[in-house]
Amino acid sequence: MMRGLRNILAVVSLGQLLGIIQGGQAAIKVSSSPPVNASAPIPEAFVSYSIEFSSFPDFAGNKSLPNIFSNNLLNNLGRLTGTKPHIRVGGNTQDYALYNASLKTAINGTFNLQRSADYPTTIFIGPSYFESYSTWPNTRFSHGFNLGLGGNNSVGWETLLDTVPLACKALSNGKLLMWEYGNEPDLYSTSSQGPVRPPSWNESQYVSQWLNGTRAIKAQLTKYCPDMVSNESYGYLAPSFAGTNNHLKPLLTWQDGLDQDQDIKLISSHNYIGGATQPGVTLQGTLMNHTSTVHSISSQVNESNYLAYTGIPFILGETNSLYNEGAPGLSNSFGAALWGVDFNLWCASVGIRRVHMHQGTDYRYASWQPIETNKTIIGTKPPYYGNIAVAAMLGDLTSGSVQIANLPLESEFEAAYAAYVDEQLVRIAIINMREYNYTVNGTSSVLNPIPRPSHVYSFEVPGKGDVDVKTLYANGSDAISGITWDGWSYNWELEEGQAVKLHNVTTGEKLKIAGGVVNVTVEDSTAVILNF
Ligand SMILES: *[C@@H]1O[C@H](CO)[C@@H](O)[C@H](O)[C@H]1NC(C)=O
Ligand SMILES: *[C@@H]1O[C@H](CO)[C@@H](O)[C@H](O)[C@H]1NC(C)=O
Ligand SMILES: *[C@@H]1O[C@H](CO)[C@@H](O)[C@H](O)[C@H]1NC(C)=O
Ligand SMILES: *[C@@H]1O[C@H](CO)[C@@H](O)[C@H](O)[C@H]1NC(C)=O
Ligand SMILES: *[C@@H]1O[C@H](CO)[C@@H](O)[C@H](O)[C@H]1NC(C)=O
Ligand SMILES: *[C@@H]1O[C@H](CO)[C@@H](O)[C@H](O)[C@H]1NC(C)=O
Ligand SMILES: *[C@@H]1O[C@H](CO)[C@@H](O)[C@H](O)[C@H]1NC(C)=O
Ligand SMILES: *[C@@H]1O[C@H](CO)[C@@H](O)[C@H](O)[C@H]1NC(C)=O
Ligand SMILES: *[C@@H]1O[C@H](CO)[C@@H](O)[C@H](O)[C@H]1NC(C)=O
Ligand SMILES: *[C@@H]1O[C@H](CO)[C@@H](O)[C@H](O)[C@H]1NC(C)=O
Ligand SMILES: *[C@@H]1O[C@H](CO)[C@@H](O)[C@H](O)[C@H]1NC(C)=O
Ligand SMILES: *[C@@H]1O[C@H](CO)[C@@H](O)[C@H](O)[C@H]1NC(C)=O
Repeated sequence: MMRGLRNILAVVSLGQLLGIIQGGQAAIKVSSSPPVNASAPIPEAFVSYSIEFSSFPDFAGNKSLPNIFSNNLLNNLGRLTGTKPHIRVGGNTQDYALYNASLKTAINGTFNLQRSADYPTTIFIGPSYFESYSTWPNTRFSHGFNLGLGGNNSVGWETLLDTVPLACKALSNGKLLMWEYGNEPDLYSTSSQGPVRPPSWNESQYVSQWLNGTRAIKAQLTKYCPDMVSNESYGYLAPSFAGTNNHLKPLLTWQDGLDQDQDIKLISSHNYIGGATQPGVTLQGTLMNHTSTVHSISSQVNESNYLAYTGIPFILGETNSLYNEGAPGLSNSFGAALWGVDFNLWCASVGIRRVHMHQGTDYRYASWQPIETNKTIIGTKPPYYGNIAVAAMLGDLTSGSVQIANLPLESEFEAAYAAYVDEQLVRIAIINMREYNYTVNGTSSVLNPIPRPSHVYSFEVPGKGDVDVKTLYANGSDAISGITWDGWSYNWELEEGQAVKLHNVTTGEKLKIAGGVVNVTVEDSTAVILNF
């Protein structure tokens, strides 16, 4: 049998022959009910996406050509968590988009390679852009309005006034989640893609421009979509800052009265673990490293603690592995999928209420490539499988109260979490992030002659009987294809992203709880979920 298709029992016996590394620690005690530091119940659609404004027509398609592939992938997640992912439409390009009522296409984007090779920086959208909100049934969206060009430029301001009626009509009938006005305004005066504000740009100017624009949005809604201005239906995610310590500080914006109209429904912050071309970034050291994730998200945890007094839920409205759209070989690898599982479950455990993983056409870290381009083939990418594993760990968030608790482990290359449903332990996730390359030096022609090591994890758990094991698997952390979740493939090539059970992957392993302990062997660069 080829690599990757060995069943767990075979691995155990192979591992025993090779001498499996035995956890090195005593059985990890897992309480039957949530510990005090478990999360509050996780709200629906925790596993959500942010889609780059300029890429949204590629991801969603339009009325005559809806993107079925994307919809299938969203449905898979919806089946696991009870709600299709919420979609934030925004990102850097929301602040470049101007409206052209005579444009026949959804978007006319022009690249300026000096500013970015990954997305257009001169953008016009036409009326048909808004068709993309109609292609995914039962999906809720936030629409990002342009503050970058809207706050101080008459064409940008006209775009705001012109697009509110189009967006509100497109998002009527329950499709609207929330509005957003401006992406990462804390970087407006320093952006490496070109500043849109002077160096003197400060929090109070931001607040007054934000209030001015959001009041204009509300006035347009009152005129064109009067049923969308009630307290229940009208609101924003804000301030959508890139970080907690850039040119503008989030806390000061609140002190300056950002929420004086009391219309902020979600506090949104953005996070990237590192940068695509940042020196020293590696899969093992930066992504497959629990300490790195904890460290990266600690500033958001602090910010959410400072802002806890507002009572407004705190989310990551845009996040992914490495900013500047990810690095090839890192962000698009199975290792990044494992990172995504740890990152999302860590966020869930520390009180982040929802995580929108960012996507864009040709982006290296994207969960899927929605269309064929001359840079990237259409397909489901490894990070999507990580999203699926997170959704499987959370389970149906609409039918019970789901809480996540971190289970501290010894090494920074591993992480474990417990999931409680209605206060009962139901699942444990173990992510063994020790790097295992199945190739040598990244060339698939030379397979790694070193057998894949495993680690045994022992958990002291309540109850007895069988435990079902589900595995997030690939040949190694360097794999960019051949990923499966519990033997399921969501690849485009099979059923256009619909779940397909593969017959050449062994699944259905069961473990016994004996003496209150269950042992599970987890290969390096693999995640498993134990189901009690
Ligand atoms: C949660 O509490 C347990 C028990 O006090 C402790 O061992 C663990 O480190 C805590 N977890 C976190 C993430 O702080
Ligand atoms: C708006 O679109 C029309 C039709 O494509 C085009 O002729 C015109 O030049 C566009 N205007 C701008 C400012 O791009
Ligand atoms: C719908 O999408 C197709 C495929 O991208 C495109 O050819 C067509 O022009 C689009 N229709 C509109 C109205 O934008
Ligand atoms: C698209 O935008 C570019 C740059 O502004 C412009 O030169 C071109 O005429 C536009 N095309 C259309 C069809 O509007
Ligand atoms: C709001 O912004 C627009 C566009 O810059 C400007 O014309 C208007 O005067 C502003 N209103 C207030 C109250 O600042
Ligand atoms: C408006 O934006 C331009 C850059 O497009 C910037 O140079 C200028 O300082 C801005 N003006 C104000 C008042 O923010
Ligand atoms: C893991 O991340 C932490 C925090 O960024 C860092 O200090 C540590 O060196 C990293 N580990 C490795 C092996 O790079
Ligand atoms: C790739 O596709 C883009 C967008 O359709 C196009 O502008 C570009 O010229 C193409 N590049 C090559 C090398 O074909
Ligand atoms: C892998 O790269 C190392 C360092 O460049 C080199 O010494 C080694 O021979 C390479 N191995 C193979 C199989 O190419
Ligand atoms: C895996 O491969 C990458 C790229 O060739 C290399 O940098 C890394 O050290 C390898 N990791 C292990 C554990 O062999
Ligand atoms: C397993 O089955 C899938 C789906 O038919 C196929 O794409 C894949 O190549 C198979 N793998 C092996 C090793 O046969
Ligand atoms: C789990 O592993 C420990 C340590 O090797 C062993 O003593 C115990 O019998 C194992 N329990 C089960 C249920 O396999």
